[in-house]
Amino acid sequence: MLDWLFGWKATNMAIDLGTANTLVYVPGRGIVLNEPSVVAMKREGGNMVPYAFGNVAKQMLGRTPERIEAIRPMKDGVIADFHTAEEMIKHFIQQVNNKRSFARPTIIICVPSGSTPVERRAIQESAENAGAKEVFMIEEPVAAAIGAGLPVGEAMGSMIVDIGGGTTEVAVLSLGGVVYARSERVGGDRMDEAIVSYIRRHYNLLIGETTAENIKKEIGAACLPDDGEGKTMEIRGRHLATGVPCEVVISEARIAEALADPVYQIIEAVKVALECTPPELSSDIVDKGIVMTGGGSMLKSLDLVLGYAVGLPVFIAENPLACVALGTGKVLENMEEYKASLFKQH
Ligand SMILES: Nc1ncnc2c1ncn2[C@@H]1O[C@H](COP(=O)(O)OP(=O)(O)OP(=O)(O)O)[C@@H](O)[C@H]1O
Ligand SMILES: [Mg+2]
Repeated sequence: MLDWLFGWKATNMAIDLGTANTLVYVPGRGIVLNEPSVVAMKREGGNMVPYAFGNVAKQMLGRTPERIEAIRPMKDGVIADFHTAEEMIKHFIQQVNNKRSFARPTIIICVPSGSTPVERRAIQESAENAGAKEVFMIEEPVAAAIGAGLPVGEAMGSMIVDIGGGTTEVAVLSLGGVVYARSERVGGDRMDEAIVSYIRRHYNLLIGETTAENIKKEIGAACLPDDGEGKTMEIRGRHLATGVPCEVVISEARIAEALADPVYQIIEAVKVALECTPPELSSDIVDKGIVMTGGGSMLKSLDLVLGYAVGLPVFIAENPLACVALGTGKVLENMEEYKASLFKQH
């Protein structure tokens, strides 16, 4: 206890550095940070310096004056803007440390299964530069499965579908390892983009991505509602012909139509994974079904549509937004047990 108070002991951390959200788990304390992966940078002289992070910065997206730029440094599950990503990781680590600890932490950070060695190295280096003593990585679907409470260590196939902001990761796991993994660059962001372009095409209205995300959460669905148009919502944007702000009412049915393409891509990714699964493990999956995690899994009816398309039961994990962080945290707390799932990029 004194060690921790006086900062002699490092606060080790498990980090889910997501395209949309970053979560940090500290052993014994649980999830201590959960913020959007957004940084606002401000121009000072010739340099861009960090100005705000997380929730505060997310509110600035699409609303910044010329001197300030709100950036999402992660795209498709990997670092798109190295400098900004590093500033963000550094800031979040310091926030968790609360300047209490002088010791350098051990960090486990997860990476998409489809990321390249160069992308993995970038994530590892940014955590090292942010002050970590040692950085281990784990594949996101493995962490998601552990966080969802799947029996990944047993000789039994489990299928996990993690639908994040940037990627959909489909994986079949058995005996603590990945038997098959496929990472598709489709997720919540693609859904938001699909809504923006649908509304531009059909209503001549330009909306921002934050508005699109709100529409998706409010009235988004993976299939047409039973009762005609379903729920409705008033949305505001800029009319493309007149240039003035205007408001339209849009229905769940229209948004389901807008989302058809990304939903189809997610279903296809799962089908391909099922086709590539060895038969013994397939039969386990038929018994136990598919477990979905990640924020995208909360899209209305996605579980039903996916279940219907592949003919298997589909379940949404408890607390889908936190599974990856919880799983990575569990690995950090039991590193010896899970050491086969951890790696470094050389
Ligand atoms: N109720 C909801 N319905 C549909 N989508 C949702 C809902 N709640 C959150 N989302 C979406 O989930 C996504 C964020 O999920 P999550 O935090 O799992 O992603 P991430 O881990 O940051 O991304 P990635 O794993 O791809 O790097 C966002 O696109 C968000 O809009
Ligand atoms: Mg994620």
